[in-house]
Amino acid sequence: MKKLLSILVACSIAVPTMAQTSNAKMDAFIKPLLSKMTLDEKIGQLNLQGGWDDSNESSKAAYTQKVKNGQVGGSFNIPNPEKNAKVLQDIAMQSRLKIPVIIGGDVVQGYKTIFPIPLAETMSWDVEGMQRSTAITANEASSQGIAWTFAPMIDISRDPRWGRVSEGVGEDPYLGSLIAAARVKGFQGTDYLKNQNMMACMKHFAMYGAPEAGKDYTGMDMSKRIMYDVYLKTYKAAVDAGVGSVMSSFNDVQGVPSSGNKWLLSDLLRKQWGFKGLVISDYTSIEEMKNHGVVATDADAAALSMNAGMDMDMISEFFQKNLKQLVQSGKVSEKEIDRAAYDVLAAKYKLGLFENPYRYCDAQRAAKDILSEEHLQHALRIAQESIVLLKNNNHLLPLRPTGTVALIGPFAKTEDVQNIGATNASRSPNIYEELTSQLKGKSNVLYAKGANISENDMLMERIYQKKDVRSAEALKAEAITVAKQADVIVAVMGEHGGMTGEAASMADIQLQENQRDLLKELRKLNKPIVLVVKNGRPLIIDWEAENMDAIIDCWYLGTKEAEAVVNALLGKFNPSGKLTMTFPRNAGQIPVYYAHNNSSRPEQEGNKYTSKYLDISSAPLYPFGYGLSYTSFEYSPVTLSAATLNGTGKITASVTIKNNGTYDGEEIVQLYIQDVVGSIKRPVKELKGFKKISLNAGASQTVTFAITEEMLRFYNNQLQFKSEPGKFNVFIGTDSNTKNIAEFELK
Ligand code: BGC
Repeated sequence: MKKLLSILVACSIAVPTMAQTSNAKMDAFIKPLLSKMTLDEKIGQLNLQGGWDDSNESSKAAYTQKVKNGQVGGSFNIPNPEKNAKVLQDIAMQSRLKIPVIIGGDVVQGYKTIFPIPLAETMSWDVEGMQRSTAITANEASSQGIAWTFAPMIDISRDPRWGRVSEGVGEDPYLGSLIAAARVKGFQGTDYLKNQNMMACMKHFAMYGAPEAGKDYTGMDMSKRIMYDVYLKTYKAAVDAGVGSVMSSFNDVQGVPSSGNKWLLSDLLRKQWGFKGLVISDYTSIEEMKNHGVVATDADAAALSMNAGMDMDMISEFFQKNLKQLVQSGKVSEKEIDRAAYDVLAAKYKLGLFENPYRYCDAQRAAKDILSEEHLQHALRIAQESIVLLKNNNHLLPLRPTGTVALIGPFAKTEDVQNIGATNASRSPNIYEELTSQLKGKSNVLYAKGANISENDMLMERIYQKKDVRSAEALKAEAITVAKQADVIVAVMGEHGGMTGEAASMADIQLQENQRDLLKELRKLNKPIVLVVKNGRPLIIDWEAENMDAIIDCWYLGTKEAEAVVNALLGKFNPSGKLTMTFPRNAGQIPVYYAHNNSSRPEQEGNKYTSKYLDISSAPLYPFGYGLSYTSFEYSPVTLSAATLNGTGKITASVTIKNNGTYDGEEIVQLYIQDVVGSIKRPVKELKGFKKISLNAGASQTVTFAITEEMLRFYNNQLQFKSEPGKFNVFIGTDSNTKNIAEFELK
């Protein structure tokens, strides 16, 4: 540290203290620094470099040289960050101006303590709990050299074929916005310099979650009104929560790729929303503007992106290779370069890296905090809250711990923890190990794999999975033999982690045919079957919903997955998760989401000429907000404090909920509102509030929601955010299907 101070003093850069975070102080530090930088050095700051490779000496030497030359502003996803972050800063300290590198990474689901995949966590509706998960993630990663996470991913999506729904916040902008803000606050804390936090990066700006036909990297055409009313809301919430950086998306927005979209990056983000932080491209997304067909040359791509308001180029190196000539030819002004370089330096300043480039390398804190008991406890709690009970006929669950259980399926005894994006995860127990240990001395657990992940060879090859050496028939036969000896069958089925996430779109999201076949065979044995579903997206499990006795959806739950699942099966807690994405019954329904508009001929049974499918029901398999409990809750009718709402006033809507079952439980009480007549069409209902309550068996509680005029506003075609007087319906219930309704008028 002393050495560093003397270096900085020698270069006559005043070192900021921790307290110097105000804009004026930051300006007073960065502006003189910028004025000392050559054009090359400024452009160097805009290069966001991946690919540090510990095992390749020649590529390391080239990388080292670039850092020394001041040609690397930031580095990300480095292997062994606890060692290499320091190595990189050491090299940066050998550059002319000793500007530290900013080290980022895709820390999306926890660092070593792994939480449920982001979509799964949203099923808890526990916004504070999600904030805590990101705070723990920041605490662990920020002790290992990583100052910046490429999270949260907050793309609203209504298409489960898109693999990246697993990383997102589900389909609803209201809930999604609360989660976006909470995750930003969790990562960043109130002050980066508390050394337990990291800079967040909301992604992928914007509308990346709406790809045509669910196919990753494709675009869509969407009206500005729908953008404002639905898709932009989560990003705006993250900006309002103070997110430090923004990643542009791969797709285009109204024909212009996000990474070169001036309306998006400058007019909307910076001018309209007042965002003052760092804007980065996604992986080679500047280069990919050539594939979009909006630029012909590398230089044109760099110019379009820089002039649109981009700060950092991830991987393409188009800024690095083209900006100097573009400035010289007048196609990009040096002012733009200064703006971008300022943003990069400001991020480093705010993170305290000028004061101490090694501040995020803290082995002592890592030893104390990483995988601490407190972190693991939270991981278990949030994993349990994320589980959704989809079906439970005849109270099959919780299981009575007697007799013999047949545990069957390709995910029951996996060696692979299957945590998306969680490359640091160490192996935790699988469901077989956990169930055997919890049932020791009480009941007998038998196991058979029963089926491969899939018999679709193309799919297996694309997800890098190998089939069992035994034939599909042999696997099935073994499972039947095992199941015959059991009193109850627990089948753990679903999709492999490689089938969700980036570049993992699926056209057919039913349970893989071979897994379904196995379930059909097991069904013939006439034994009770519990299906445990592992998935990163809503799956089409229509046959299963009809034919299984109980279904729990457990997604990918991270370090504590097995414990959470077995605790659910054995009733050590009572599931309370609710779906944040609609489950279709058939892929032909997609996109299917609760807040849809009515058609001109709403569906009517017995009337052919109404909006429906002839061959299937229009209703989703499981609606948004759906989730059962081991107990049951009874809702009273909705009562309103008044029949009219005047401008600035408020009315309250209340219901009394009774736990009329035999278990204590938690319920997520949901408030929806419908604007009955608007100047433009309004959705059939929209989530406007929710409360998670805890009720002992037999107990009741009254829950009230305040309704104000502000909650009734929407974007009209002039993009004004206004309410309109008239009639509104209020629904309060257990899911988005609720018919528990009252009405009021806005005057
Ligand atoms: C993904 C981003 C990710 C980046 C860096 C891209 O392919 O879209 O979400 O942050 O890679 O790994």
